[in-house]
This record gives sequence, structure tokens and C-alpha cells, in this order.
Amino acid sequence: MTQDRVYIFDTTLRDGEQSPGATMTHSEKLELAEMLDDMGVDIIEAGFPIASEGDFKAVSEIAKRSTNAMICGLARANFKDIDRCAEAVRHAAQPRIHTFIGTSPLHRAIPNLTQDEMAERIHETVTHARNLCDNVQWSPMDATRTEYDYLCRTIEIAIKAGASTINIPDTVGYTAPRESAELIGRLIKDVPGATEVIFATHCHNDLGMATANSLAAVDAGARQIECTINGLGERAGNTALEEVVMAMKVRNDIMPYRTQIDSTKIMAISRRVATVSGFAVQFNKAIVGKNAFAHESGIHQDGMLKNAETFEIMRPEDVGLSETNLVMGKHSGRAALRSKLKDLGIDLADNQLNDVFVRFKDLADRKKEVFDEDLLALVRADTADE
Ligand code: KIV
Ligand code: ZN
Repeated sequence: MTQDRVYIFDTTLRDGEQSPGATMTHSEKLELAEMLDDMGVDIIEAGFPIASEGDFKAVSEIAKRSTNAMICGLARANFKDIDRCAEAVRHAAQPRIHTFIGTSPLHRAIPNLTQDEMAERIHETVTHARNLCDNVQWSPMDATRTEYDYLCRTIEIAIKAGASTINIPDTVGYTAPRESAELIGRLIKDVPGATEVIFATHCHNDLGMATANSLAAVDAGARQIECTINGLGERAGNTALEEVVMAMKVRNDIMPYRTQIDSTKIMAISRRVATVSGFAVQFNKAIVGKNAFAHESGIHQDGMLKNAETFEIMRPEDVGLSETNLVMGKHSGRAALRSKLKDLGIDLADNQLNDVFVRFKDLADRKKEVFDEDLLALVRADTADE
């Protein structure tokens, strides 16, 4: 592993699909897995094989088809889950079993296990998974609310039992960036064997800090980010793949890390995930929102027409868009109108442009957005008046 390489673990098909109402069909899952594989995702968490016959089939089929990515399935800390998961991923060129158990006091109370009993369960289940698969990831669910000493103890057990990736979930999105960095840094320093494994970060977005927490964890030594397309996931969602990838790309000066994601494939998969999950992307969502590369105000449009860097820190082409969208509305100025008309094949003399501009402002006051057809109608009306 090179120091700056960050592995992207996509869980759109597992944690993302757990979002209420986001269930996907078998063929939709295969299609998305192919897109994830093609865009350079390192590990695809394809599902939770014990959850249903459908999930098992989807994980197995994705395992058979994927050409680049490692294929991972999720399993609780029991032999039945782990056996089913091993069976589902076994055809993958690179299979992984991801097994987890809730280690915080709140989560330990559910199966009613003492710390020692849970420690024994972790040892047995990770050992079992490791006997079935060479690549095992282990997660202490609700890690960020687990007593620190106990967290260290469980991680040490999982490493000794053969886990090669240790994922630290912020299951309820409670952590702040400084804490996220501090926790990963301390674990890598304190847990025996920690430097021999990869630490992963799995953040939920309940307080809107998932992206910041993931990047802070990477700064502290984590080298796998768990994320989903559009940030889909339980409750307020998971870390958004497109945000962490573009943040590390655009701000490589202060986050000198590397992924193998082809960012030009981001927009296509974002739209496909929105369609199949039924979860529309909010207009002002970073990177993939409809307005992320759109400008309406006159000052911004004028700046953009002169030099795109005035109001954009990424090129639209870098995320798979063909161009910036200059939205024509009441805040737009004459320069944008001239440019838009030019794109429509209309080159007006200054006095004509002034006339059309007056009509345009009048219409824009009555209408949220002025479309190309509206502009063409305004020009036609102006020519007819002459
Ligand atoms: O949020 C979480 O803790 C999870 C685990 C299963 C890793 O999704
Ligand atoms: Zn999760």
C-alpha cells in the first residue's frame, strides 16, 4: 500500500438500499454494480446475503460479474450469516466478508452480552470468517460511542483472528471532525497490530458532518472510506462518494491522497441511483445537484463568461457534465443574454439586444426560469414589431 492511496468502499447497494423506500430490483442492482466497477470503486458492498433470497442472489451474481472491484457481503456476528455471506461472494475474483457487531453499551445490551462474552463472540466469528475467506473486514458498530479501552480490546481480538480491514463506524452520525481524526489516530497508535491492517471510516450524516468526518479520519491515517452515491443511506444517509472523491481531487494541496475513481463517471451514476432509488437529488447538493454548476445572477454569469474560475472550483467536465449551465432568470444580465442567444444561433445588433433584454426582464419577473423557447419567442416578437 502506498501512503497516499485511499480505497473507496461503496455501500450504495447495502447501506444505501437500507434507506426506507430505496429498495432496488435485481437488475437495477446488477446495473449499478457494473457502473461502480467501471468507475473504479475498489470494494463494492453488494448486499446482506442472509437478509433475503433476493439479496443473496444479487450478491452472488455481482460477485460472478465484477471484473475490477473486490466484492463484499455483510454478515452479523454469527456462523449462519457468515456462511451465507461466504457462499454469496465465493465466485468473486476478489471476495470479502464484512462481519460486524454493536460494541457500545447500548448495542451490547441488545443481545445482552457482557464485555467478555462479546469479546469471545468476536474471536469466534472473525476466525470462522477467516477460515472461509482470505479477506475479512470487521466493524465494531457504534464504535464512536464505545468505551475507548473496550474498543481497543475488540479491535485487537479481530486483528489477531485475521481481519485485515478494521472499519470504525460512526453509526449514528454523532462524531465531529476533530474527534473523528483523534479516534483513528489514537487507535492506530494504541492497538497492537494496527499498523498491519487498513483502518476504514464509515460515517453517517445525521449532523451533516459525514464528509468532513471521513476526510478527517483519512488525515489521521484511515485509508478506506465507506460511502454511497448521492450519500444514500439510513436516516440522513452515508458519506457521499462524489464529495470525498472530488474534495481529495480539488484540494489535493492540503489532502494529498489518491483514489482510482474516474470522476467523469460521477454524474451518470448519480442520476441512475436517483432514478432507481426514487430519491431525487436536492438541487443544491454538492457536486451532483442540479445547481452545482448553474449560475443565474448577472455578476456570476458575467464572471463565468470571462473566466470560469471566477465562480467554479471544478470543471463540469471533471464530473461528467458537458458544460456549465447559465440559467436565465430575473437576476441575469445582458452579457448572459447575448451569450445564450449566440448559443441558439442568434446574433443581435446592440439596439435589438437592448429591446429583447427589456422584454426578457419583464418576462423573468413573472416566471422563475426563462427557457430557450421563451427567448426564441421574445426574439421573434421583437422582429415582428419592426
Ligand atoms: O452504520 C453502521 O454501523 C453500519 C455497519 C453495519 C458497518 O452500517
Ligand atoms: Zn452504516
